[in-house]
Amino acid sequence: MRICYVVAMVAEAKPFIERYGIKEVEGFFAPLPCLLYEGNVNGAILDVVLNGQQQGSDLVGCEAASVATLSAIQRLHPDIIINSGTCGAFRSNGAEIAEVYIGNGVMFHDRRVPGDDAWGTQSLGNYPIWEGSAQLAQTLGFKMGKVTTGSSLDMQPCDLSIIQEHGGELKDMEGAAVGFVCSLFKTPILYVKSVTDLCDGGAETFEEFSRNLHHACETLKKANEQIIEYLTQR
Ligand code: ADE
Repeated sequence: MRICYVVAMVAEAKPFIERYGIKEVEGFFAPLPCLLYEGNVNGAILDVVLNGQQQGSDLVGCEAASVATLSAIQRLHPDIIINSGTCGAFRSNGAEIAEVYIGNGVMFHDRRVPGDDAWGTQSLGNYPIWEGSAQLAQTLGFKMGKVTTGSSLDMQPCDLSIIQEHGGELKDMEGAAVGFVCSLFKTPILYVKSVTDLCDGGAETFEEFSRNLHHACETLKKANEQIIEYLTQR
């Protein structure tokens, strides 16, 4: 079995990379910015693909996530892609900081294109997720929520109305891009998201995100340990 994580930020991947002692395969994706870490866990190949960096900061967002996912699938042929990272969530849904969710759907929340049945529907995405996601969440005791993706950390009122209209619960910047590419190859995709900030909590998003990043990445690592165990023991 080959499990491939696609992760945007070094902070999100580092606890996990260190836990499994997996090593960078230098230059694997050159000249693309994405990076590959690889090792073995319980007889499975474990790949972690990071979006990479530009000008000293992580390449968050959909473009880099698409490049990383496309390259990962074409070069590594994984059995499953896991998009693991941090997200915003909603206090009104009962979310708490550093709580880990499994995605039960994925879409874009900042693509405002008119038309219900053609452009509008297509641009929102709503890509398939791995069919075993709910069973995994139930067995390991994680909540589930719909991932909605946009290109900004903040949330404009027009984003919120799309999120609410479609039952979005987890706000990120990569999930739907990863899901889009997985849908093209019919590669199963599992979402694992840890909450750094509450979109309806009243705090300034970047400050709250920065303050909680370390804590959220620790719970993310613990969740991923459980998930790897679950996937490799089946
Ligand atoms: N990643 C972590 N928090 C986020 C938020 N509020 N919006 C988008 N991406 C995020």
